[in-house]
Amino acid sequence: MPGPFTDITDTIFSNKEVLNESYQPEAILKREQEIEEYRYALQDVLFGRDPENVMLYGKAGLGKTAVTTYMMDALNDEVQSRDEADDLHIHNVNCNSKTLFMIIRVLVNKLLPQDASQFPKRGLGTGDAFEELYQQLDRVGGTHLFVFDEIDHLDEVDTLLYELPRARSNGHLTDARVGIIGISNNYTFRKTLSPKVKDTLMENEISFSPYDATELKAILKDRAEQAFVEDGWEQSAVGMASAISAQDMGNARQAIDLLRVGGEVAERAGDSCVIDDHIETARELVQRGRLANRIRDQTDHSQYVLETIARLEKRDDTPARSKEIRETYEQVAESWATTPLTSLKSIQDHLADLHMLGFLQRDKRNQGRSGGQYFEYQLDLDPELVIETREKIEG
Ligand SMILES: Nc1ncnc2c1ncn2[C@@H]1O[C@H](COP(=O)(O)OP(=O)(O)O)[C@@H](O)[C@H]1O
Ligand SMILES: [Mg+2]
Repeated sequence: MPGPFTDITDTIFSNKEVLNESYQPEAILKREQEIEEYRYALQDVLFGRDPENVMLYGKAGLGKTAVTTYMMDALNDEVQSRDEADDLHIHNVNCNSKTLFMIIRVLVNKLLPQDASQFPKRGLGTGDAFEELYQQLDRVGGTHLFVFDEIDHLDEVDTLLYELPRARSNGHLTDARVGIIGISNNYTFRKTLSPKVKDTLMENEISFSPYDATELKAILKDRAEQAFVEDGWEQSAVGMASAISAQDMGNARQAIDLLRVGGEVAERAGDSCVIDDHIETARELVQRGRLANRIRDQTDHSQYVLETIARLEKRDDTPARSKEIRETYEQVAESWATTPLTSLKSIQDHLADLHMLGFLQRDKRNQGRSGGQYFEYQLDLDPELVIETREKIEG
């Protein structure tokens, strides 16, 4: 008997995995210069010398992580056949929403012998964790490269970047050698570092610039060839995805997303080839998804205020003043079983935030003869989309 899946037999993808976020490409394209700089920065490792530190800067989706993984794999392979090189240990840490203590503790636990008990979560401080880290590094020996991705998210970054690169010169380490690779999505991060830290890290700074349409096209073509069946994609569709992403930050992640979603759109429509129209639909879907994420990032009450304005908008009751917004806001908050904020000021603060973030339009109005001024707000988005997203969030 046929089931719900029986008639799904054809697929446009031959290897969809290569379009996944977590897929590490075998070939890095259009980053020759960055790879060249990276090569020089790391060559000391081949000769058993202290590694230099490397800092990578550049916006999201520009290949910083992919290039780093590629370089680490290549270095690891090369070291195997070099007599002068020490054993190489590569430690990857993502710093997002972690404290320095958590990071050092994870590193210690990774280095501890298998039968040893883990470094305690509580009771000891970051200084103790560093001390244990140094002991374990010396016990294991060899060269250790620490890749700290999204390092700009770490609060106590000065301590980390001061301590670890100097561990050997400060006598904390005798056998092990350490090097740091820091990756930041944020170039201004550099300015927030203390001067003495900057000195050590300025050894090698590699900055990643946005891809242009031609570069994105080369990257996408390579992926499309692997991802889709033969004749399963049109050159112009790949060109379109590249052009869209080049205009919007030159982000390769976004370009690959467009291609994957475009393939899904084509497959759902029962089409055997990805064409421009599919990419166009994908662009709308991806934009929708991004907006939903941005709404999700707001605090609960900010979301209620946003939802309120979407509801007012649907009833044609916008633009509205904060006093008018407050009444409906109270109903909205209560409908989600939450006690509404009581002061008008707090509603106004949320309105100001939402305006600043581009969710709302705001116009200044004069209060006739009395001379006062006030603001009127309306939604700068599709109200249906906001309400739909809000309902999804509340599940
Ligand atoms: N030069 C490149 N060649 C091939 N794939 C790339 C290149 N640059 C980026 N990518 C791909 O684009 C996506 C985003 O790259 P990623 O390294 O995660 O960016 P970042 O770390 O700078 O945010 C990944 O899927 C990655 O494989
Ligand atoms: Mg990254």
